[in-house]
Amino acid sequence: MIRLKNKEQLAVMREAGRITGEAICKAGEAVREGITTKQLDDIVRHHIEKCGAVPACLGYEGFPASTCVSVNDEIIHGIPSPHRVLHEGDIVKIDTCACYHGFIGDCANTFPVGKISRESQRLIDAAKEAFYKGLAQFAEGKRLGDIGFAIEEHVRSYGFSVLRDYTGHGVGREMHEDPNVPNYGTPGRGQRLLQGMAISIEPMICAGSPQVRVLPNGWTVQTLDGSRTSHFEHTVALTPDGVVILTEIG
Ligand code: MF3
Ligand code: CO
Repeated sequence: MIRLKNKEQLAVMREAGRITGEAICKAGEAVREGITTKQLDDIVRHHIEKCGAVPACLGYEGFPASTCVSVNDEIIHGIPSPHRVLHEGDIVKIDTCACYHGFIGDCANTFPVGKISRESQRLIDAAKEAFYKGLAQFAEGKRLGDIGFAIEEHVRSYGFSVLRDYTGHGVGREMHEDPNVPNYGTPGRGQRLLQGMAISIEPMICAGSPQVRVLPNGWTVQTLDGSRTSHFEHTVALTPDGVVILTEIG
């Protein structure tokens, strides 16, 4: 069941989103050679708590941290660790959710560690651009398939692939609400997009095959072929005034 949001609820979600976006930005600014993924998690958690919000990933289905930090061939749900040190040339995905006055924001981005390869930079660019291609389809009367098609088409134009086993999703009081928002689709097909919808649009992309496995820790999703991955996510809403990127800051 899709839970549409009214104006007041969207105003609260804008606050939740701003806090979430800021947390990702602050962690991104701290990314450098030698920092651990646990330190990035600490930065995110501190910011969320300072803002009077709650880190919604912490304890979610038993997840042990406030932030998913995934390096290189890890694509999502990486568990922060004080033993995982970032090295020059790595690319790191930072993904978090904050809950503020009962509503969630969900945001992720991929950051370079020092100087990275041209291929890794293309991977980062492709996911971000694909997000905006998907966002351009987020309009009343369009359908979910329009969003997914636009995302996959753009990613494929780079020679990259989209993750198929995980999708974007509705966002609200719950982190994962209906509908699922796949990064692939058929134009004109799927759920019609309605005013009051709040969803995450989140291209998760692979340089090689989109086949993945979950590590024995039960969480970290990694490509089978070891190829690198990137992720770019915002929570977005269709409001009476048009599309709003709830997790955008500034
Ligand atoms: N933002 C991620 C998602 O939508 C985080 C959820 S997994 C968690 O999948 F357990 F870390 F919360
Ligand atoms: Co998400």
